[in-house]
Amino acid sequence: MNRSRLSLWRWLQYGPWLAQLVIVRRCNLRCGYCSEFDQTSAPVPFADLAARLRKLRALRTWAVCLTGGEPTLHPQLPRIIAQMRELGFRRRQMITNAYRLTRASIEVFNRAGLTDLQISIDGVHANDTTKKTLVPLRPKLELLARYAKFQVVMSSVVGCAPPAEVEEVIDFAQAHGFTPRILLVHDAKGRLKLSAAELTAFRRVKQRIGRRASEAGDYREQLIATGAAPFKCRAGARYLYVDEFGRVNRCAQTRGIWSKDLLSYTLNDLKTQFHTVKHCHATCTIGCARTASATDRWRVQRMAPAAHGGPPA
Ligand SMILES: C[S@@+](CC[C@H](N)C(=O)[O-])C[C@H]1O[C@@H](n2cnc3c(N)ncnc32)[C@H](O)[C@@H]1O
Ligand code: SF4
Ligand code: SF4
Repeated sequence: MNRSRLSLWRWLQYGPWLAQLVIVRRCNLRCGYCSEFDQTSAPVPFADLAARLRKLRALRTWAVCLTGGEPTLHPQLPRIIAQMRELGFRRRQMITNAYRLTRASIEVFNRAGLTDLQISIDGVHANDTTKKTLVPLRPKLELLARYAKFQVVMSSVVGCAPPAEVEEVIDFAQAHGFTPRILLVHDAKGRLKLSAAELTAFRRVKQRIGRRASEAGDYREQLIATGAAPFKCRAGARYLYVDEFGRVNRCAQTRGIWSKDLLSYTLNDLKTQFHTVKHCHATCTIGCARTASATDRWRVQRMAPAAHGGPPA
């Protein structure tokens, strides 16, 4: 399948809705809650990324989201986005901490064909855990509001700044025409990690955003209330996390448990991962994986053999 394309029927059955592609693991920040960056890695060479993008297209992937580390550290970022457009991905997305944005880079992203940008603003004032806050980043956000032709989602990780600050961030997002989104801070395994005050703040912010604040059947309310929100995780099929080495992982939080080289990914891999019960599903807070899995909630899943990264026997 390296060259031949997944058929439309097979894609509807098992194919990827969203792939997150790590283009550089290095980051210019070191957020206290993050386990997804280093300070030394070189950018992934363009030729390798182009081959990965071609393969994702052959799998008929609907949306590709560039991530890291910090993707704006990649010196060939405009070329990567342009390549995504040339290959025909419907959604061409990026997640960034916004620190390196300038008017010129925003205009380059417009021309290259970026469709969606997610920025993470966790509070108002920089603190020991996060510098992704309104005060230092306000000028960058004003530039985005003025010049971006792509959709901007402003996400806030609740649990990294005083709870009242998150409400101010949401107000700012709405006043500037950005789409607000709330994320809950998770530990390195993707499990919820919030105090009672932070949970109260989460509910208040959700009310403020309204109906759009609910994600994947509002699993977060269930997680908060009972400590578990089981679901059929289709990571490895509907959602792919492609690391800097070009290996498909189920998500950033399960790196090292199971992975396979993207370039040799087959329909059989999609099927196996689609049907594999993930041992971590009940406490998972990975919103993109939950959203990408939601359409198949009625379809069966079975326990995987250990070779595919199922739970230990
Ligand atoms: C790993 S970052 C990469 C992109 C970019 N550096 C940024 O911060 O937006 C991708 C997203 O994961 C979120 N994230 C990282 N660690 C997290 C955690 N422990 N809990 C919740 N969200 C987290 C970040 O806030 C960001 O929205
Ligand atoms: S900016 Fe993003 S990648 Fe960098 S440390 Fe913070 S959350 Fe992690
Ligand atoms: S349930 Fe799926 S997305 Fe969530 S942590 Fe496990 S493998 Fe990752």
